[in-house]
Amino acid sequence: MRTIKIFDTTLRDGEQSPGASMNVGEKLQVAKQLARLGVDIIEAGFAIASPGDFEAIRRIGGEVEGPVICSLARAREEDIKRAWEAVKDAPKKRIHTFHSTSDIHLKYQFRVSREEALKRSVQMVELAKSFVEDVEFSPMDATRTDIGYLCEVVEAVIEAGALTVNIPDTVGYSIPSEFGAMIKALFDRVKDIRKTVIAVHCHNDLGLATSNSLAAVLNGAGQIECTINGIGERAGNCSMEEVVMALRTRRDIFDADTKINTVEIMRSSRLVTKITGMYVQPNKAIVGANAFAHESGIHQDGLLKEKSTYEIIKPEAVGLHKTKFVLGKHSGRHAFRTRLNELGYALSDEEINHAFERFKRLADQKKEIYDEDLEALVSEDMAMVYETYRLVGLFISAGMHQKPTAVLKLKVGDEIIEKTENGDGPVDAVFKAITSITGTKSSLLRYEVKAITGGTDALGEVVCSIEEDGKSVSGHGSDTDIIIASAKAYINALNKFEARKK
Ligand code: KIV
Ligand code: ZN
Repeated sequence: MRTIKIFDTTLRDGEQSPGASMNVGEKLQVAKQLARLGVDIIEAGFAIASPGDFEAIRRIGGEVEGPVICSLARAREEDIKRAWEAVKDAPKKRIHTFHSTSDIHLKYQFRVSREEALKRSVQMVELAKSFVEDVEFSPMDATRTDIGYLCEVVEAVIEAGALTVNIPDTVGYSIPSEFGAMIKALFDRVKDIRKTVIAVHCHNDLGLATSNSLAAVLNGAGQIECTINGIGERAGNCSMEEVVMALRTRRDIFDADTKINTVEIMRSSRLVTKITGMYVQPNKAIVGANAFAHESGIHQDGLLKEKSTYEIIKPEAVGLHKTKFVLGKHSGRHAFRTRLNELGYALSDEEINHAFERFKRLADQKKEIYDEDLEALVSEDMAMVYETYRLVGLFISAGMHQKPTAVLKLKVGDEIIEKTENGDGPVDAVFKAITSITGTKSSLLRYEVKAITGGTDALGEVVCSIEEDGKSVSGHGSDTDIIIASAKAYINALNKFEARKK
């Protein structure tokens, strides 16, 4: 049985989804979870893209044990040098460089000939190789590239030392039979192809990213590039949970598996949702809320008699368990820390103290605290950035036949500023008050509110994405009062912008 490598690009291609940008702390949190999940390679960012990306790659390389840490780099000298600076201290490191190869890209975007593109690709693989042994090359837009030329490029970069050659379906154009045939053609025609690992990187524009990746595995690909929840540029990338569970469930067909610890799948999915604010659709395979829900009477009848009648994957296999009441008002710090450790959060004493204080306040409002509540509490703490603005007071009046009014107090530096605003609803009034105090020019892209667990006393979690000068960030906040959670989410997003400016 072959072992297929999982190359996770949630922190690079995934982060390219509108509104999904993450700060360094959030990226570290995701990277630690990816290590628990057992991915082979983490593409931690694109070092030259921004100082934030560079710093995130460097810190992940220093703090996350297990996977190879990789930085993306265009086929340019300055990119490769910057990628090297970012990964050089990681115990296991890789540089991933790429150049377009399709005539469409070469003619209209890069304005270079095929010969020139090939020469640059080889030179840049050689340059990357002078820094690090583990070099990956991607001929971008491979699926719209002339197959003869693609074979030439792949052969040349293997000769230059690329240990992995990744075949991207950059615009999600291919279909499984065609993509499988392309991988087979490479294996048939490229000299020394078995000296390298052939990877695939499929986008989901036609909803075929997972199917295309699986077709490639059937034809010899040994690495799949994917993201948690399938987030990524446009319609996203191949979704990690789908491709991993397809390989595991149908080992009989693929004769291949991955090293993924599948019980970490749900937690990874929830973490990425929380941090990016991008919820998965309820009917999404594997991680959607309805993925294991059986509604029809006939199905329920069958399941009660024998699970395998309608269940092809055990929910526990992906880390889905019945929500349990875990802690309450009388639980102590020790039980709190132990449960967080079991959930995979290793917090410092200071972080535990802060989270425990918030836990006690929550336990006063809510009798039963579930794992999901604890995760919300901790991830809100971890998403904290330097607080340029801090919510210190909020009074709301709203109801039938009454203009909703918010009286809101923010701490800005050493000053406390109070504003009263009316709105179409209480959330609108709160957002207007915050906008008026901060003077922000950002516009609201998305606002979503969700109950974390059942019951009317549940924690409400709010995600809001805002945009300024073409850049967007998501903020989140949770509270048993959804108006307060909304204020926290908006302020968190504004603080992220301020942190980025600084
Ligand atoms: O989609 C793509 O082609 C990419 C490359 C950089 C691998 O993301
Ligand atoms: Zn991509």
